[in-house]
Amino acid sequence: MSTKRVLTGITTTGTPHLGNYVGAIRPAVAASRAPGVESFYFLADYHALIKCDDPARIQRSTLEIAATWLASGLDPERVTFYRQSDIPEIPELTWLLTCVTGKGILNRAHAYKAAVDRNEAAGNDPDADVNAGLFMYPVLMGADILMFKAHEVPVGRDQIQHIEMARDMAQRFNHLYGEHFVLPEALIEESVATLPGLDGRKMSKSYDNTIPLFTPRDAMRRLIAGILTDSRAPGEAKEVEGSALFQIYQGFASAEETQALRQAYADGIAWGDAKQALFERVDREVAPMRDHYQELLAHPERLEDILQAGAAKARRLATPFLQELRHAVGLRRLSAIASAKTPAANDKVALPSFKQYREKDGQFYFKLLDAQGKLLLQSTGFEAPKAAGQAIAQLKQSPAETLQTLQGQCHLADGVDETVVLAALTALQPQDGD
Ligand code: TRP
Repeated sequence: MSTKRVLTGITTTGTPHLGNYVGAIRPAVAASRAPGVESFYFLADYHALIKCDDPARIQRSTLEIAATWLASGLDPERVTFYRQSDIPEIPELTWLLTCVTGKGILNRAHAYKAAVDRNEAAGNDPDADVNAGLFMYPVLMGADILMFKAHEVPVGRDQIQHIEMARDMAQRFNHLYGEHFVLPEALIEESVATLPGLDGRKMSKSYDNTIPLFTPRDAMRRLIAGILTDSRAPGEAKEVEGSALFQIYQGFASAEETQALRQAYADGIAWGDAKQALFERVDREVAPMRDHYQELLAHPERLEDILQAGAAKARRLATPFLQELRHAVGLRRLSAIASAKTPAANDKVALPSFKQYREKDGQFYFKLLDAQGKLLLQSTGFEAPKAAGQAIAQLKQSPAETLQTLQGQCHLADGVDETVVLAALTALQPQDGD
């Protein structure tokens, strides 16, 4: 596979702020436009349930976050943008992965361990107020990632352990059941800024020091006016080092603009003027997006349509892949059992079959027939018989993947469902020891 798959999830709690925008949303949208990259962005609403039991807030946050990403320039035609809970294959894969994950590994996951440590420090039962969702968080996240064979997962440092766990799950599953999963890697963007908040600490919901990205203009101006500064008077030179105001400005400004503000600090700009400069710079970038955002919020049904289309796109990959995985672990139709056991010499076992042939046009073709001889899959012409043979071998080796990559070189017969073709291909899959 030549294209690189990049996937990231956004937990749907809270309202996006300037720190999220500069640190995550803007770089992700830019990365999604790079050539040779296939991006997956999703709203991790199952994850949100672990820490939030307020249904209205879950729904509101899903709406706001979806609108934020689209208003920030994410193109749903170009990327796959979906809501986790629209993909029933995700919780199903979670279970398959749960069964190859050591409980001891989950005991050591940071978020769970921190909760246990807090309880122990307070003299409580170690698992007091810990729901099993928190414990299982890494497995659900592993399913998110492994389902779409992501190569890279851009995340914050606090999430590296989760990506490593997903790798472990993939490795263990592949070892037990054959090569199905891609091993993902965490992508840590060193260059993106972490913005300080109103009080100078990292901008974060938990410090209550955020500036919401799409707060109305006046509110934005007021919040910026409240950024903590020192008491230097107008005319006194000011330090850029440790100035939250300067760092936020830098998150939005070009190198030249930043240099100009640095000079203004040295020249003793009044804090009021510096705040006005910051407000104008942020507003210049945010105002057009804010209009788009407001329009999306006013039309939740349009957002819903976009998410539904995204889910359909995602499921075109997830549904056949899960079929493949179910088969791999032995969740199989009993009717196929005849083909799995070694047949006696004179036992006729009905199996699907490939036929290769040459047409009058001189090209080489193949087709896949079911056990009763019904056409399931038809190829287009290949120049060489070898190429046709290789396509068949690949289809047998990794059915779901190859069906995707061979699109254009073979098509489903009329009225035949992809899942039927996959089941037939999986019945032909080489078994261990073949
Ligand atoms: N755990 C991630 C966070 O809190 C959100 C998330 C859920 C995620 N599933 C994911 C991120 C899959 C990357 C890939 O930020």
